[in-house]
Amino acid sequence: MPSVTAANVDNVIIRPCRPDEEPLMSAIVCDAATAYKGVIPADRYHEPYMPLAELRAEIAAGVRFWGAEANGVLVGIMGIQDMDNAVASEQGGIGNVTLIRHAYVRTAQRGLGIGGQLLRHLVRIAQRPMLMGTWAAATWAVGFYQKHGFTLTAHAEKEKLLRVYWNIPERQVETSVVLADAGAMALVREKVSAEAEFAQIDAFWSPRLVAELNGQQVKFCRLKGEFDWHAHASEDEMFWVLEGELTIKLRQRDIVIGPNEFYVVPRGVEHKPVCADECRIMLFEPAATKQYGDQPGA
Ligand code: NI
Repeated sequence: MPSVTAANVDNVIIRPCRPDEEPLMSAIVCDAATAYKGVIPADRYHEPYMPLAELRAEIAAGVRFWGAEANGVLVGIMGIQDMDNAVASEQGGIGNVTLIRHAYVRTAQRGLGIGGQLLRHLVRIAQRPMLMGTWAAATWAVGFYQKHGFTLTAHAEKEKLLRVYWNIPERQVETSVVLADAGAMALVREKVSAEAEFAQIDAFWSPRLVAELNGQQVKFCRLKGEFDWHAHASEDEMFWVLEGELTIKLRQRDIVIGPNEFYVVPRGVEHKPVCADECRIMLFEPAATKQYGDQPGA
């Protein structure tokens, strides 16, 4: 069998898999799925990961597999499944979608861009909004789909989607995530209600993540009392007051902000949020920002 390496992987053909390749496809899944060992919950990992009979059952259920052939060797596969599932939106459905199912590249050919070529091809030919389900713990897989324009759905959204579009045990719903392309995301995403989100927050100074966009996070937080002096070396920090009044103490001055007012603390500047009565705010900051700052308060 000719070898496939970084040097000659540019000669990749994406084509439908053939019935005579089913044993090889099963072997590719089992080889690639060893990356899950010790990462996904132990009770969900088994060997072989996808026996031939299971692969054939998936094909019978409508999964169409595409293969990446490099120098005449099948090195990766990715399946798509059209779901004609007109489940009402109240039940969590978003109409007819295409699922990406069972995406695997052989261990020896990982990191050569083969998965990306397969995915770009399937995205090009898809006629419908696309969803992808994977293990929450498979962070490399989540990152791969994000890099190709997919977005993680929120917890409540993925719970509904998994129940509507996937036939998996409850335990697997808990440990899975769903990523959506832009078309699916427009159907999945619900508006955010500040009232409903604040009703979920029990503690003061405990930010609740309510949305993510462009690497930034939107958080709601209930404040009361005094926070420690701190600074964020490389992030500006926005405090937008929704209800109540907040004083942001800086070393040289105090900024008092009320409802529909906000203030941006410049990066590196020490600050101390203070409010005698409860204040409700929105924070908008990079995902990497640490609440307590980078250095302990002086
Ligand atoms: Ni801060």
